[in-house]
Amino acid sequence: MVARVIPVDPFDLVVFGGTGDLARRKLLPALYHRMLGGQALPDSRIIAAARSDLDAGSFRHRVKEALRDHAAPEKLDPERLAAFLTTLDYVRVDAQGEDGWDSLFDRLKDSERMRVFYLSVAPQFFGPISERLATSGCRTPDTRLVVEKPLGRDLESARALNRQLATIFEERQIYRIDHYLGKETVQNLMALRFANALFEPIWNARHVDHVQITVAERVGVGGRGNYYDRNGALRDMMQNHLLQLLCLIAMEPPAHFEPDAVRDEKLKVLRSLKPLVGLGNVVRGQYRGINGEADYLEDVENPGSRTESFVAIKVEIANWRWNGTPFYLRTGKRLRARMSEIAVVFKDAPHSIFPESAGGTHPNVLAIRLQPDEGITLRLTIKEPGPGGMRLCEVPLDMTFAETLGAQGLSIPDAYERLVMDVIRGDQTLFMRDDEVEAAWRWIDPIIASAETTSERPQPYDSYSSGPEDALMLMHRDGRRWRALAA
Ligand code: BG6
Repeated sequence: MVARVIPVDPFDLVVFGGTGDLARRKLLPALYHRMLGGQALPDSRIIAAARSDLDAGSFRHRVKEALRDHAAPEKLDPERLAAFLTTLDYVRVDAQGEDGWDSLFDRLKDSERMRVFYLSVAPQFFGPISERLATSGCRTPDTRLVVEKPLGRDLESARALNRQLATIFEERQIYRIDHYLGKETVQNLMALRFANALFEPIWNARHVDHVQITVAERVGVGGRGNYYDRNGALRDMMQNHLLQLLCLIAMEPPAHFEPDAVRDEKLKVLRSLKPLVGLGNVVRGQYRGINGEADYLEDVENPGSRTESFVAIKVEIANWRWNGTPFYLRTGKRLRARMSEIAVVFKDAPHSIFPESAGGTHPNVLAIRLQPDEGITLRLTIKEPGPGGMRLCEVPLDMTFAETLGAQGLSIPDAYERLVMDVIRGDQTLFMRDDEVEAAWRWIDPIIASAETTSERPQPYDSYSSGPEDALMLMHRDGRRWRALAA
């Protein structure tokens, strides 16, 4: 199978914060890969705008180093790399002051290419930069603006940000990235559900016992202690990535695979989430170092911190499809394995025709592994092979994307490759709309408020364990179990 690549029209992409971490690790490698793939043409321009006093030559040199570290090693062809570097330019711009805006305008003014401004900067600069884009003349009617989380820290600030951006750009011009939506396997959720007739008839509370969504990481907070401690797992992961996954798994079939049709359905899920009162269905934890490794509190250099590095929530969706089927969501750092998956656990067979000696039947489980080792497993009960009468056992029907599609010559691109190209193509399907972001905050705000006012500290859990005891209890008390965390 050969990947079908449709080249995009040449574009001007201005990356504010173009010397920063995200640009170095994700954005520029993604653009390089897309150019190699023949999708983005070399006569496009990528202009980094940042505060450092650099010229285009030294910026290119930095990017060359960054690609050595972060692009796929087998793709580092010197000639193609040199061609990519020629598309790069650098402008020194002061996001809040006057400096540099004229130079940026000069670079862009004679170009009729479509413009993208990617704000890879702290959120407090979103407003000021957008305003300058308008007053400096850089904004055109076809300009697209890309922003990334945190999109506010509660409903009020998210609304204020949306309002501010709306005074400068139309909603059709604003691309709010949640990089989980760009992951191949996450997009595959929609293909799995809506391109196969098999699942839809049983995708409801009559047949589904419960759903588990896990995003577990082995890493701690690393060098982002300051940011993380102000946000915690609730703001950093739950409000966005996990709720987005929940939307995709729970939404009704959209009428079309089109931006507003998909986003309307996701919004309905968010609006149907049962409000949580207090922390009865919420477990928060903080990792404890083992073998001499630092605790969460040491990592964030805040001995009194009550911020959670783990959270598990039992969520209910009050609508016809899901009434009575709980969704258990958990995410955390320093857990046993890096593992993100969605598991749909079906109800038991209504009646067993087999004798007790056969062993019981087991519920079917459809597990969608998002990372690592992306794939899909369907757990089935079959007869144990061989003599000895009828004995039942469980087997996985296992499909790994890398094996199945790799054998056909396709590889799995990074989320940013897909998302940046979607911005350039003008496709907002995988981006969050203003009302979605607000609905997610509206639901999670009371949980965060309870977490911030409770006298209970997050429960400690050992690094590289499955998380706090109480998270296990959240499931046990309903007669259910989390799936094992294993890579
Ligand atoms: C980011 C969070 O949005 O997602 C990080 O801020 C987290 O804390 C990261 O580590 C996880 O992303 P991925 O793609 O590595 O699963």
